[in-house]
Amino acid sequence: MSLMNNLSTSMISSSSSPFLAPISFNSRTQSVTVPPKSISLVKCVSTPQEQQTAYKTKVSRNANIAKLQAGYLFPEVARRRAAHLLKYPNAQVISLGIGDTTEPIPDVITSAMAKRSHGLSTLEGYSGYGAEQGEKALRAALASTFYGNLGIEEDDIFVSDGAKCDISRLQVVFGSNVTMAVQDPSYPAYVDSSVIMGQTGQFQKDVEKYANIEYMRCTPENGFFPDLSTVARTDIIFFCSPNNPTGAAATRDQLTRLVKFAKDNGSIIVYDSAYALYISDDKPRSIFEIPGAKEVAIETASFSKYAGFTGVRLGWTVVPKQLLFSDGFPVAKDFNRIVCTCFNGASNISQAGGLACLSPEGFEAMQEVIGFYKENTKIIVETFNSLGFKVYGGQNAPYVWVHFPGRNSWDVFSEILEKTHIVTTPGSGFGPGGEGFVRVSAFGHRENVLEACRRFKQLYN
Ligand SMILES: Cc1ncc(COP(=O)(O)O)c(C=O)c1O
Repeated sequence: MSLMNNLSTSMISSSSSPFLAPISFNSRTQSVTVPPKSISLVKCVSTPQEQQTAYKTKVSRNANIAKLQAGYLFPEVARRRAAHLLKYPNAQVISLGIGDTTEPIPDVITSAMAKRSHGLSTLEGYSGYGAEQGEKALRAALASTFYGNLGIEEDDIFVSDGAKCDISRLQVVFGSNVTMAVQDPSYPAYVDSSVIMGQTGQFQKDVEKYANIEYMRCTPENGFFPDLSTVARTDIIFFCSPNNPTGAAATRDQLTRLVKFAKDNGSIIVYDSAYALYISDDKPRSIFEIPGAKEVAIETASFSKYAGFTGVRLGWTVVPKQLLFSDGFPVAKDFNRIVCTCFNGASNISQAGGLACLSPEGFEAMQEVIGFYKENTKIIVETFNSLGFKVYGGQNAPYVWVHFPGRNSWDVFSEILEKTHIVTTPGSGFGPGGEGFVRVSAFGHRENVLEACRRFKQLYN
């Protein structure tokens, strides 16, 4: 018997796979038996490693994906953390790196999700595909909670499975022929999705930038707001406030200038407000607080960092009906088309959670979670200040941006990991403008944050 035959009969026996075994459907009214799937279809699953790598399809790799550098930043940080744990299996590693939430979701919110979930087991409570744009009640609650007097209506809001997913869906709407600008440093999804869409040229190693992207430098010297007089016109401007990773929130005056810049250039701003509720002072929480923004801006937002929904998955994007392409066609109609084609709407259970977040008790509970992380931020800021570091961010965002002048970010990342077992994020992972900085996330249990700060003090005192 050949190896393949042997594999197909012994290694993939139908009894080892519920998928391959004959299936007996106990439907409510009758029992139906269907024949097993043909085993030959799945031989490759058990094919030995060397045969898998030897065989190549005739499909060429997407040349745009091939332009991407190394891994996406956060998987790379996770890989280094795993390697560190292999080296020091007993180390008490504290992760203040990736920026994932750690505190439990308030009960008033999970109860609503549990109720919706249990309802799905009943005839009355069951629902299947919902409206692709999201449930009406949630869209209405989002409109009134976040955009009360800003003229954003329920039908301008598209509920999603998170801001990152919507960033990519927006890129699909824009296509490969647009030019784009990003803050430098910025959340890596903007640049990477642009590369994947084919909007950029190759990565240029000497400057650590992709060709055809306008990098808007944001440094302590310019108050983390780009000098727009030196920024070239692009079709799309990604702008995140409060910014990940610098923690800087733009002022009303700065955003007014940004909106004017977009209008003068006929550009579209994609405004990422994923951390808006972390703002403590009077800075705008939405781009739509700026007059005229509805004609030039889209806003994307998320429950991830407000309610610990990083795993639950729920966000939203506002595409005002006033926003038009050059031919007068509404951007919202194309976004709707992409949402209907590439997405089938957010999970009904997540949406029940989102609605609970916006109830008076849910909103208060969500703000308590945010307040807890803001306390963590204060502890981290005070620690680095006491050690004589220049520290940015923190006040309006759950990120602390620590300056290590003249040093390589990955070197500092490695030094901190090696000597304190604390995972941070190297600033250069967010763009060349992040070189010399490390981002410390305030998402963590309090005792871990306190312990991390003790270790920072030991290392840098
Ligand atoms: C600026 C920014 N936008 C979007 C996201 C992704 O949010 P979501 O979990 O909703 O996809 C993150 C997550 O860290 C972020 O920092």
